[in-house]
Amino acid sequence: MAAPFGGADEQNQTAWKRAAAAAAVAAIPEDCVLGLGSGTTAELMLEALAARVRQGLRVTGVATSERTHALAVASGIPLLALDDAPALDMSIDGADEVVLPALHVVKGHGGALLREKLVAAASRQRVIIVDDTKVVSALGERDPIPVEVIVFGWTHTARRLAALGLRPERRMLPEDAAMNPPAHPFVTDTGNYILDCATGAIADPTALALAIKAQLGVVEHGLFVGMTERVYIGGAGGVQVRKTGQ
Ligand code: 5RP
Repeated sequence: MAAPFGGADEQNQTAWKRAAAAAAVAAIPEDCVLGLGSGTTAELMLEALAARVRQGLRVTGVATSERTHALAVASGIPLLALDDAPALDMSIDGADEVVLPALHVVKGHGGALLREKLVAAASRQRVIIVDDTKVVSALGERDPIPVEVIVFGWTHTARRLAALGLRPERRMLPEDAAMNPPAHPFVTDTGNYILDCATGAIADPTALALAIKAQLGVVEHGLFVGMTERVYIGGAGGVQVRKTGQ
């Protein structure tokens, strides 16, 4: 049974995420235009970044979700909209799975994959921060691949994804036991559904990414293939840094 306020494993994991986030934030250069990721690890990064901003670091953030936007504003981090930032120097974000040494990742379990990918694509250097529980030997081996789809006709899109061999399930909001409402679908910041698609270990992430993207009704998917230059991995032995080509 889970400990009521998070057990030792969860505390370790948070400490490892925090260490990875701090190492990445320490490497942010002055006057950086910086993509700000979403999720629990990215939020620890925002805390560390806010501390550096209070110490005088000049940085401009570009948020990847409404939640990150609100947290950055509350923390005093200056922001720019993506469309007002022609190019970003760097982005820092979390991930759900990372495969080494290729540095391909799965993202989107927090539901922000579309904006995260748009910000990453506009960034010269993409940095991922994770604890070492996120390192896998093959993408998809543990978690489903989130696929963001248009609401209209989503069941047809799901059938097209199933025909590729995926097992799509529409993501639902957790039910509130106290109020006992009917389950509601999760809706992204951009107004779409997420289909979590179990795949098993993916042999060729590039081919699968292309096949998913080609389906009518698909907006984007959580496979980030060849979109990461550096990964900070926090673990019991400290923070390991991996770069592409290593
Ligand atoms: C949100 C994401 C997150 O970066 C990813 O889910 C990792 O989240 P966390 O740091 O909470 O484990 O892709 O869409």
